[in-house]
This record gives sequence, structure tokens and C-alpha cells, in this order.
Amino acid sequence: MRTPVVLGIESSCDETGAGIVRDGKLLAHVVASSMDEHARFGGVVPEIAARAHLHSFNPVVRQALDQAGLRVGQIDAVAVTTGPGLSGALQVGLAGAKSLAYAAGVPLYGVHHLAGHVAADTLEHGPLPEPCVVLIVSGGHTSLLLVRDLVREPILHLGDTLDDAAGECFDKVARILGLPYPGGPAIDRAARDGDAKAVAFPRPLTRPGNDPFAFSFSGLKTAAARWVEQHRLRGEEPSVADGAAALQEAVADVLTRKALAACRAHDVRTLIVVGGVAANSRVRALAEERCAAAGVELRVPPMTLCTDNGAMIAAVGDLLVRSGAEPAPLNVSIDPSAPL
Ligand code: KG4
Ligand code: ZN
Repeated sequence: MRTPVVLGIESSCDETGAGIVRDGKLLAHVVASSMDEHARFGGVVPEIAARAHLHSFNPVVRQALDQAGLRVGQIDAVAVTTGPGLSGALQVGLAGAKSLAYAAGVPLYGVHHLAGHVAADTLEHGPLPEPCVVLIVSGGHTSLLLVRDLVREPILHLGDTLDDAAGECFDKVARILGLPYPGGPAIDRAARDGDAKAVAFPRPLTRPGNDPFAFSFSGLKTAAARWVEQHRLRGEEPSVADGAAALQEAVADVLTRKALAACRAHDVRTLIVVGGVAANSRVRALAEERCAAAGVELRVPPMTLCTDNGAMIAAVGDLLVRSGAEPAPLNVSIDPSAPL
């Protein structure tokens, strides 16, 4: 039998993604982002995101099919994110995916968004070395996961952020420093000329007795605001470069320290880092340094697969199809607050 071709759809936040995967290989990968439409509000506006998905769904799917040189009739299964995410946004993707599956007469698979992030790495580096620890760091998530068997066992949540996500922290502090949105790349650039030791920002939840795998980033935002304010009270302007470098160091330190502690605690030899914040140069450098010292293999998929996309959902769908998993009924609904 011909290996099945799986179309994956992602629409949980501000990216409309369609990807096509066959036998673990990426055939197409198209993403339309509504990020620019949210920029002036300083964050994702759910209603705008849902409308943008509606607008982008057909062109994105069409483009993915063109990229793979396939017709709808040549798709063997459709996989779609059912949650977690913004409900209006998820609804649009699920309705579109159902229509496609129904029209093509092929099975539909519901996919957990985080399983997608994990599977993204397989498109670049091949089968997942299980067990592995996965650090997901984006504008919406900061989670440490233990993956034993992606398609057969639930992902084990080791820890999450108690408040802001790491990317959100970058975005909010960038605003405080007068840098543009999205703040992460702006902070990364500004930090190049800064001294990371110039400001002693806190390392939240790293004291003995703290939850070793939980994160908290809202305190960093407050610390940055106070640092700026103290300068202004003295009639000085703070060094944006120093603030950016010190913040980046604090975030990178906490993320990599906890990720490696998770590898040690569970005797895992592979760490996978995904999400927009995985693009951060200091997070990457420190992860490389600490993984090498601990004898842990570090995998970071290319950025286009790290951020939200349909290819990662197709990758999970492909694994589900090949493992003989049961498809979802056509009346499956979204699960916006799906357990993490
Ligand atoms: O995964 P992503 O594209 O979207 C979701 O949040 O789902 O992640 C976006 C986040 C933003 O908060 C952005 O500021 C952050 O990733 N980001 C970075 C960098 N590039 C993107 N943060 C730090 N350094 C970067 N170079
Ligand atoms: Zn995501």
C-alpha cells in the first residue's frame, strides 16, 4: 500500500498553517500570520485572529497542495489542532478541516497543539528519541514536558509557568524599554551591545524548596519596570542594551537550568527546545553549553518549524495514521482549554 499523505491544519492562535507530511517527510509547509494586525494592540486579539483564519484558510491550504504537487483527492487523512487555544480561532480551523475530510472522504484526526510542537522536530531530525524532555517556550507557552511515547501515552507535564510565558515576558519588558513588538527579537538585537551583568535581575523559582520545574516570569517584568523607574527618578535614562542583555540572561539561565534539571531527574539524554523563544541567541548558546557539559543531546528544529504551523500537526497526524490510531468522529469539537 502507498504510504498515506496527511494534511495538517493549525489555527489555535494567530497563525493559519497548513502542512503536508508523508512517512515522516515534509512535503509542504505554508503559514499565514495575522501578527501584524495585532501589533498595535500589543498582543493577540481573539476576534481579529478568528477572522484572519477565515480569510487565510483556503489560500493557505491551496498553496500547501500546490507546493506538494497534490490535489485534494490525493490526501489520505486530515489532522487538525483541537486545542488548547483561542476558541474562535480553533473553530475556524476545525470547521475547515472537517469540510475537507468530508469532501475528500478521508479520516479526520484531532491533535493536541503541544504534541504538534513536539513532533515538529521529527520533520528535521527524524524519529523522536524517546524518552525526551521538551521545553516549549513561546508567547503563549512555557512548559517542560516528558515524552515517553508521543502517540501512545499522554505527554507528562513536568511544569508550566505560573503566570506569564517567557515570550510574553520578552514582549512586555521590550515595551517597558521602549523597544518594538514583538519584543523578543528586539531584545535579542539590543542585547548584543549590552552587559548582561549590569543589572542583577532575579531568577524566579530557583531557590531550594521551589518547584524545580515551574516557571514564573511576571516578577521579571516588575523588576525591569522598577529598574527603569529608578534611573528616571535620578534624572537618567537607563541603558536599553544593558537591560535587554540582563533580562535575556535571566530568562535563558532559568529556562536552561530547569530543562537540564528535568533531564537529570528523569534520566533523559535528549532535550528538545521549540517555540519562538528558541530563536533567542542566548537561550540557544546557554542550552548548547549546558547540554554539552551534561552529556545531553540538544535538538532545536529550524525556526519555521518551531513557531506555530500546520506541518507539525501533519507530523502528529502522520504518526497517528501509521500507528493505526482511531480517527475522530466528524462531530468532534474543539477543546480550547485542553489539559496541558
Ligand atoms: O512560537 P511563537 O512564534 O508564537 C506563539 O507564541 O505561539 O512565539 C512568539 C514569541 C514572542 O513572544 C516573541 O517575542 C518570542 O517568541 N521571540 C523571541 C525571539 N524571537 C521570537 N524571544 C526572544 N528572542 C528571540 N530572538
Ligand atoms: Zn504554539
